[in-house]
Amino acid sequence: MSVTDQFDRPLRDLRISVTDRCNFRCPYCMPAAVFGERYQFLPKPQLLTFEEIARLTRIIVRLGAVKIRLTGGEPLLRQDIEDLVAMLGAIDGVGDLAMTTNAYLLPQKLDALKAAGLKRLTISLDTLDDEIFRVMNGGRSGVDKVLAGVCAAEDAGYTPLKINAVVQRGLNDHTLVDLARFFKERGHILRFIEYMDVGNRNGWKMDEVVPSAEIVERIHAAMPLEPVAGNYFGEVARRYRYADGAGEIGLISSVTQPFCGSCTRMRLSPEGEIFTCLFATEGRSLRDPMRAGASDAELEAIIRGTWGARIDRYSEIRSSLTDDVRDRRKKVEMYHIGG
Ligand code: GTP
Ligand code: 5AD
Ligand code: SF4
Ligand code: SF4
Repeated sequence: MSVTDQFDRPLRDLRISVTDRCNFRCPYCMPAAVFGERYQFLPKPQLLTFEEIARLTRIIVRLGAVKIRLTGGEPLLRQDIEDLVAMLGAIDGVGDLAMTTNAYLLPQKLDALKAAGLKRLTISLDTLDDEIFRVMNGGRSGVDKVLAGVCAAEDAGYTPLKINAVVQRGLNDHTLVDLARFFKERGHILRFIEYMDVGNRNGWKMDEVVPSAEIVERIHAAMPLEPVAGNYFGEVARRYRYADGAGEIGLISSVTQPFCGSCTRMRLSPEGEIFTCLFATEGRSLRDPMRAGASDAELEAIIRGTWGARIDRYSEIRSSLTDDVRDRRKKVEMYHIGG
C-alpha cells in the first residue's frame, strides 16, 4: 500500500510537530523581535489531540512511513508528551521513534519518555561558548542547562546521542572545533547544519552560510576525518569518522549539497496539516476533514493524493532563484513544522 511521489520518492518518514511553542527564541527560527510576549500561538482547540495524531500516524504508517520523529516548537512543552510516545510506539509498523529537543526540560522528562518507549534522542546545541549560545537562543538558556539534558540522556542510556548544531558565519563558526572535540570525547554524533532560509522571518543571507566543505576542512585540520558511507537511503547527513577510530560527525548541507532527490519526509503540523517540504508554501489540512467525520479510507485517499502529486525540490532550485523571488515566497515557518 506504499505510495510514491512524482519523482518516485517513497514516503518513509513522518515528522510530527506537536506544538508551535518554544521556550527558546533562536534568531534563526523564532526571532524574539517577532515572537515576543504578545505573539499569538495556536490556541489549544486547534491542536490535534493525541488520539487524532495517533490515528493519522496509523494511516501514514500504512502508506509506508517507518520512522517517526517528534518535533515542535519544543516538543517537551506539550503536556504529557510521554503519553503520545506510548501511543505511537504501540502502532504496528513503527520502526523508529525519535525526538528532537532543545533539552531544557529533558532532565525532568526523561524517565517518563524512556518508560513510554522513546527510542532515540537528538539534542540541539550550537556552541559551548555560553555568551554566544545565549545569543543563539534569544537569551533563554545557558549551555549548562543543555548539558544537564545531555547528561540525563546519557544516564538513561540514549547513547550515542545526535547533537544538532546550526552554523552561522561570524556567530558560532569559530567555536565548532571545540564543540566537535567535546562530543567526540563523549561518544556522541555531532551534526553541523548549514543555516537555512526556512520561513520568512530569520532574515537569511547566503553569506551567513558556512558551506559544509569548509566545516569539514576546519575540523579535519584539528582532528583528521575520513568519509563514511551513508546508513540508509534518504539519510540527511553525510557522515565522516575520525581517523583515530573514535567517533563520527555528520554534515547537513541543504544549501550547498541538497538532498531532495532522496527526500522521503512528510511533516504533520500541530494543527493537522501535512506538508511535503520544509520550504512548502502551504499544507493540506487533515484535521478539518477528520473533525467533519471523514473515515480512515477518506483520510488515506487525501494523504495518498497529496504525496502522489508531490514535486517539491526546493533546495535544489534555491540557487536559481533571485533574492527577490526567494524573499517573496511565503514559506511555512520552521518552528511550526519542526525542521
Ligand atoms: P536520523 O533519523 O537520526 O537520521 O535523523 P535525521 O538525520 O533525519 O536528523 P534530524 O531529523 O535531526 O534532522 C536534522 C536536521 O536536518 C533538521 O533539524 C533540519 O534542520 C534538517 N533537515 C531534516 N530534514 C530535512 C529536509 O527534508 N530538508 C532540509 N532542507 N533539511 C532537513
Ligand atoms: N537553519 C538550519 N537549521 C535550523 N534549525 C532551526 N532553524 C534552522 C535554520 N534556519 C534547526 C534547529 C534544530 C532543528 C530542529 O532545526 O537548531 O536542531
Ligand atoms: Fe525553539 Fe528549536 Fe526553534 Fe530554537 S530552533 S526557537 S529551540 S524550536
Ligand atoms: Fe525535502 Fe524539501 Fe528539504 Fe528538498 S528542500 S530535502 S524536498 S524537505
